[in-house]
Amino acid sequence: MSQSSQHWIASAGQPLRGTLEIPGDKSVSHRAVMFAALADGVSTIDGFLEGEDTRATAAIFERLGVRIETPTASRRIVHGVGVDGLRPADGPLDCGNAGTGMRLLAGLLAGQAFDSVLVGDASLSKRPMRRVTVPLAQMGARIDTGADGTPPLRIHGGQKLRGIDYTLPVASAQVKSALLLAGLYAEGGTSVAEPHPTRDYTERMLAAFGVDIEFSPGYARLRGGQRLRATDIAVPADFSSAAFFLVAASIVPGSELRLRQVGLNPRRTGLLHALRLMGADITEENPSTHGGEPVADLVVRHAPLRGIEVPEALVPDMIDEFPALFVAAACAEGPTVVRGAAELRVKESDRLAAMASGLRTLGLQVDETPDGATIHPGQLHGGTIESQHDHRIAMSFAVAGQRSDAQVRINDTATVATSFPGFDLLARGCGFGLAAG
Ligand code: S3P
Repeated sequence: MSQSSQHWIASAGQPLRGTLEIPGDKSVSHRAVMFAALADGVSTIDGFLEGEDTRATAAIFERLGVRIETPTASRRIVHGVGVDGLRPADGPLDCGNAGTGMRLLAGLLAGQAFDSVLVGDASLSKRPMRRVTVPLAQMGARIDTGADGTPPLRIHGGQKLRGIDYTLPVASAQVKSALLLAGLYAEGGTSVAEPHPTRDYTERMLAAFGVDIEFSPGYARLRGGQRLRATDIAVPADFSSAAFFLVAASIVPGSELRLRQVGLNPRRTGLLHALRLMGADITEENPSTHGGEPVADLVVRHAPLRGIEVPEALVPDMIDEFPALFVAAACAEGPTVVRGAAELRVKESDRLAAMASGLRTLGLQVDETPDGATIHPGQLHGGTIESQHDHRIAMSFAVAGQRSDAQVRINDTATVATSFPGFDLLARGCGFGLAAG
């Protein structure tokens, strides 16, 4: 588990150079272990993210009676127990920092014959869960939350679920996925319509596990009562982790990095479009597919960036990349305006507030609005940043430190291991000034 005492000192290093292997995708790794556990037969997962979030999900399935082998790092062999084969755990199930883990499990466990309790760390314990428990209740599930709709989630098993047609009020792949998983246990069909299309890994992967599911951007529907057939999953490198290096190499003069075979699912690559609008020099080489997902090497070279108005249509496709985008904006010519991104306030931290206050600490002017911010670029100075128990805030300020004229101290960096274990080693290896505290 995370030790909140760790910190980093980030400062200008060398031009960034080299070829980097980015760890496996977090969203895909969570789903791979969940669906393999529910399948009939044995599935092998390659490229599994060895992060705290995804290991927490694997540990939960072990406690629910699933045998999972780890023959080598980043490989899991999952002995599926079938959709009706999970067993009750002997106590609360700890999702750690993972919103994806908790929300998808809420849907999946709502359909079981037994009761479960889901808990999380300090950050997850503050996150809104009614967005899943309200529609799940419409399906017949019984889930208790804290008074303000936060974890722990007490899920009462043995409920008869029925399918619903649900239109999501807010675009969320986690909520969509929770409803589809509950839908597997429901009588009749379950459909989900989204205000903007979100990442479709659940839909694609359920199809790969043999589930008959209809889906198109912004819509998915499946029938209850289906079984999953074991299959092998190859997890692509996580674009959200690559994002920190895309921004770092763009802003540090003299840099050129190759990020090998990064997942380029179009629902994830909004930052690539935004950075290119800002003038970034990023090319895609050696395109191929990996586990059914488009991948390519991303080659990024330093380029002068200019501020932009981030197109609102890109927001869902770059929802996890705004902390990195704020750092790119801080080093651009002219202001950058973000709108329509209120969801950032309910991520692992309030990311609008965390990035605005962190950049102000380093000397910039940032005007915050309820659903966005205007970042006024300038010379970054030194200062002390609180990561707010948020991995992406910590990594973003490690990047910002590469362009600061004095040291940036980042407190509470242990949470980086939730999504990107080894970030600091990889960063130092390609030229970052980044010392462990
Ligand atoms: C995720 C969906 C997104 C994203 C999160 C991972 C997923 O959350 O921010 O990091 O794996 O489904 P929302 O669905 O709540 O927007």
